[in-house]
Amino acid sequence: MDHLLEFAVQLAFESGRIQKKRYRERHSIFYKGEINLVTDVDMECQERIISLIAARFPDDRIIAEEKDNVFEGSENRWIIDPIDGTTNYAHGYPFFCTSVAYEVEGRVVCGVVYNPIFDELFFAAAGKGSYLNGQRLKVSGIDALRQSLVVTGFPYDLGTSGMNNIDHFVSFLYEAQAVRRDGSAALNLSYVAAGRFDGFWELKLSPWDTAAGVLIVTEAGGRVTDFEGKPFDIYAGQIVATNGVIHNDMLRVLRDGHERV
Ligand code: IPD
Ligand code: CA
Ligand code: CA
Repeated sequence: MDHLLEFAVQLAFESGRIQKKRYRERHSIFYKGEINLVTDVDMECQERIISLIAARFPDDRIIAEEKDNVFEGSENRWIIDPIDGTTNYAHGYPFFCTSVAYEVEGRVVCGVVYNPIFDELFFAAAGKGSYLNGQRLKVSGIDALRQSLVVTGFPYDLGTSGMNNIDHFVSFLYEAQAVRRDGSAALNLSYVAAGRFDGFWELKLSPWDTAAGVLIVTEAGGRVTDFEGKPFDIYAGQIVATNGVIHNDMLRVLRDGHERV
């Protein structure tokens, strides 16, 4: 494991240790929007991660969800979601993680996603494959949408914006074998890499939701694009990540809606 990846794993483990320790406690909850919440544990994990990065790599930039961020320049930067799946965390539903990625000149070179409750560590380094707790990952080989388990999520403005993914959700209910929505985009991507899900799509995501998970998918042999099949950009928000085989079928459903009734 190279030193960057090793350090990213250390950050995720440290954040996971805090999440696990405080999991059963009552948390202070602050609202960023009517249904968009953040807990004191998000803040504690983020502060701890930032202080560890600042001590080891003082010249690197950091983008982290619960701080003010500048999305310009091409300096090396850490892209952090201290808790991806905060709503789950706040309710004691054990599907959440820390996501850590490292970007060099616009290219993510390593990514780590860690769920401390299941003790599952997903990680990847560019060109070196993806792993779950040391075991090499490979996407599924399922070749028909009708046999596929797909997953998605919804933006926090779903009650006020027309672009809320509900139309696509309905389409995939008709077209796929089954659809899940379980509240952590980074874990959803990692599960595509592990072959547990065959495809994932979402819109209005942020770089901290996708940076690590996308590398984990592509290094496991998957394909990641926007809804039109163009190269994925972590700063653009729209994502389709699949085992590669069902990718064009998912793009078709996103473009044309469902054929089955
Ligand atoms: C959210 C989760 C969720 C996705 C939302 C994200 P958060 O991140 O990844 O699955 O549907 O769009 O914002 O708020 O729990 O870090
Ligand atoms: Ca997130
Ligand atoms: Ca978060």
